[in-house]
Amino acid sequence: MSTDDTPIPVVAIRGVARHYVRAADDVQALRPISLDILPGRFVAFMGPSGSGKSTLLNIISGIDRPDEGALLVAGEMLNDLDEDELAEWRARHVGLVFQFFNLIPVLSARDNVALPLLLTKLDRAERTRRAETALRVVGLDHRLDHYPGTLSGGEQQRVAIARAIVTDPDLIVADEPTGDLDARNAEDILSLLRQLKNDFGKTIVMVTHDPRALRFVDDVYHLDKGILLEGEDAERAGAAIRMAAGGHVGGGGHP
Ligand SMILES: Nc1ncnc2c1ncn2[C@@H]1O[C@H](COP(=O)(O)OP(=O)(O)OP(=O)(O)O)[C@@H](O)[C@H]1O
Ligand SMILES: [Mg+2]
Repeated sequence: MSTDDTPIPVVAIRGVARHYVRAADDVQALRPISLDILPGRFVAFMGPSGSGKSTLLNIISGIDRPDEGALLVAGEMLNDLDEDELAEWRARHVGLVFQFFNLIPVLSARDNVALPLLLTKLDRAERTRRAETALRVVGLDHRLDHYPGTLSGGEQQRVAIARAIVTDPDLIVADEPTGDLDARNAEDILSLLRQLKNDFGKTIVMVTHDPRALRFVDDVYHLDKGILLEGEDAERAGAAIRMAAGGHVGGGGHP
């Protein structure tokens, strides 16, 4: 426990950097970054294509490893884990949501959502019960037996979110979850993520290009060329996004 009232961060990043060697060049995808994300925050990372957003998200969720720096996520020093331990840790602590839903086409909504529970000791009846509960949370209890191909994009993303929460993870990590949705479905998904924070205290880390997200999140971080912008640079980037959105985001309370 900490000695004061400051909560322990769900994500603590210290000097984390990542570079890729590709053919002759060396791409510095992420310059050394330090950052804390506190429990129950809904955080967005924004920035141009290639600025390192997915690289950072993959490192936070233990899909990728940094070349430098240390990383404490959901109570675990990820640097200390080997590949198997990392996979097991991820299954228990992180719920992943992707741009293109990544559902299994031959499984019903219920079975897609129950899938992460196969790694637990729960019996089939309990897995089904939890999958149905998760689908109820995302408003899809009337679509339990539907296959992904018979669901709209917005509904498929709801199934994917149900799959991400079914293990009751500490952290939900979403890479452009509204990137493949129309405006109305995008708002619905952002609102659903906000609801997971509000109702269940989930910590959510999201990458997005969507200026609509500004109305739903607690904190926005801007990346540019692998650098986390701070101070005036960050304010300028935020202002540019609000301007692009027609100035109607920003301000106002959270839904
Ligand atoms: N596996 C890889 N091998 C080589 N270079 C990579 C690899 N993954 C990412 N990169 C490079 O690292 C940089 C950051 O990539 P990243 O995918 O994090 O960007 P991004 O901000 O998520 O972009 P986008 O908005 O297009 O998804 C880019 O220059 C990219 O080309
Ligand atoms: Mg990306």
